[in-house]
Amino acid sequence: MDKLRLGIIGMGNMGSGHLGYIQSGECPRVEVTAFADIAPEKLKRTMEKIPSAAAFDSADDLIKSGLADAVLIAVPHYDHPTIAVKAFEHGLHVLTEKPAGVYTRQVREMNDAANKSGKCFGIMFNQRTNPIYAKAREIVRRGQLGDTKRLVWIVTNWYRTQAYYDSGSWRATWNGEGGGVLLNQAPHNLDLWQWIFGMPKRIRAFCAVGKYHKIGVEDDVTIYGEYENGATATFITTTGEAPGSNRLEISGTKGKLVLEDGKLKWWRLKEDERLTCALCKNGFVWPESFYEEFTAPEPDGHPEILNNFADHILDGAPLLAPGEEGLNSLSISNAAYLSSWTDGWAEIPVAEELFEEHLAELCRGEKVTKRPPLVSEPAEKLTERWRVRW
Ligand SMILES: NC(=O)c1ccc[n+]([C@@H]2O[C@H](COP(=O)([O-])OP(=O)(O)OC[C@H]3O[C@@H](n4cnc5c(N)ncnc54)[C@H](O)[C@@H]3O)[C@@H](O)[C@H]2O)c1
Repeated sequence: MDKLRLGIIGMGNMGSGHLGYIQSGECPRVEVTAFADIAPEKLKRTMEKIPSAAAFDSADDLIKSGLADAVLIAVPHYDHPTIAVKAFEHGLHVLTEKPAGVYTRQVREMNDAANKSGKCFGIMFNQRTNPIYAKAREIVRRGQLGDTKRLVWIVTNWYRTQAYYDSGSWRATWNGEGGGVLLNQAPHNLDLWQWIFGMPKRIRAFCAVGKYHKIGVEDDVTIYGEYENGATATFITTTGEAPGSNRLEISGTKGKLVLEDGKLKWWRLKEDERLTCALCKNGFVWPESFYEEFTAPEPDGHPEILNNFADHILDGAPLLAPGEEGLNSLSISNAAYLSSWTDGWAEIPVAEELFEEHLAELCRGEKVTKRPPLVSEPAEKLTERWRVRW
């Protein structure tokens, strides 16, 4: 096989965005042979764009058709796991949009199904392709910052208006989406947090519901995480602040990293701070450091992730965003909700039953309001909307 036959499931904003860059030649080893959507107008619009591919009004029919080797799932989050498990059962590879699911049990089940089938499971964590994040990860993981002390990420430039929230009936609801900024915008950042810095062992969080918008889910969040080695992480995000910031600061015993304005700044201490602290006779020294900085153009991460997924299946290239890591960012957001709902600490691994009970209660109590029909944006806006935005 020298080309991957791909079926895209969900032809809304993201599904049509994926089709758009594949059709413009950015993924030469991928051929879209089928697509599915439950909305007839999406099917009609897509048929006009790619008449050579087979159209299905259900994901199941596409999966069973034998026309695709792999599926790219771009439907609302609750359905990612069901569709993925079905695809694995039929021997297909799966690349799913983020978040992998809404609660951790779903993602464990996806991984079990993937392992059983022996097929590839990837997640569209496109921001992992940004060289600046990859460099930060390398520095931390190689121990060049020494023992980790602290991560602070203020990522408040996910600004959204009320019109955005009103643009789809599933958006910003417990029933339709399972959460707000933590599940829709921040999964990329939560993934990078754990990818670079590792997983915390417990979380305390404050999730403010409808603070800046008329929505029943959170649009302003502060998370505090604690690590086995005593390190801490503070993560702040919102869709209601302008102009927002995107500043990630990581410190360790041997120095500090700051990622902001598309730049990685690296201060390397000449001596480990723990030694300076213990041995220096002067109470007011300013530890000396070397300084370096890195910049790199931001790649278009979506085609890069899809190309890597295809290279993995066709040639065995290492997968950049494997499915089992989808559990990590979701564990952080599930723990953050649980902490906020119970007004206390939440451990990781997450108490799954308790989480699901709370979520079910919120879903039952939700007033389903009539919203205007779904408005789709032209695909060309997508890259701009989902880029890192320093
Ligand atoms: N990686 C990224 O940068 C990125 C960016 C935007 C959205 N996303 C993710 O992509 C997913 C979709 O978001 P969107 O903005 O495209 O939503 P959207 O509402 O624009 O599109 C969803 C489409 O799925 C269809 N659909 C719903 N249920 C279906 C089902 N069971 N089978 C087949 N089709 C179904 C809908 O009719 C709609 O056309 C979400 O999980 C979102 O988090 C990822």
